[in-house]
Amino acid sequence: MLPPSITLASANANKSREFEALLGGVRVEPMPSGFRLPEETGSGFNENARLKAMAVRDQFIARATAFDGKVPWVMADDSGIEVAALAGAPGIYSARYAGENATDVDNVSKLLEALEGKDDRRARFVCEIVAISPGGEQLHASGALEGGIARKPRGGFGFGYDPVFIPQGYSLTVSELSADEKNRISHRARAAQDLLNQLRGGKSS
Ligand code: IMP
Repeated sequence: MLPPSITLASANANKSREFEALLGGVRVEPMPSGFRLPEETGSGFNENARLKAMAVRDQFIARATAFDGKVPWVMADDSGIEVAALAGAPGIYSARYAGENATDVDNVSKLLEALEGKDDRRARFVCEIVAISPGGEQLHASGALEGGIARKPRGGFGFGYDPVFIPQGYSLTVSELSADEKNRISHRARAAQDLLNQLRGGKSS
């Protein structure tokens, strides 16, 4: 059965709105103020998502009296881009590929430099979600968007690697697509759909 709401382990309020739109019918609550996220020390997307979801669940348990003794459903996601010619890099380091305080432009520039002269441009966006029920049952959902890396950035919409990522079957970069189109095909949309199927008691993809 679908839970009425789920708390997203993220400091980013936009992300909870994005997931709420993708998880039709489930209210996605931002993490309560004062809650902390752990360092993402995992060796993969799934492990990082689990660390975040567990940490937020533990904070609900530790402050149970402030929440009427109730532990809500908690979910966390982790995502990034894997590039075939770079053996899957930058992967979980996508946000800080060009350094700790790297901007999106820095990261994209570093990626284009790393691929200079390479014909194999294959890449994929990956999103993994871990959701934990009030009783502690863990669900794992995932989604990917296959594609390739353009020779130079194009388009104005989106963030991160969107200006250089061309989804399979498209000639435009994600930054040249509409928000609706991106939300229809994105790795996050696919992972959210996988989670929704599992919450409804269906099969995981
Ligand atoms: P996070 O898991 O949302 O923190 O994403 C980690 C990093 O992966 C982001 O900072 C981006 O560099 C990259 N990334 C994840 N999703 C997308 C996307 O939809 N478009 C472009 N870049 C993305």
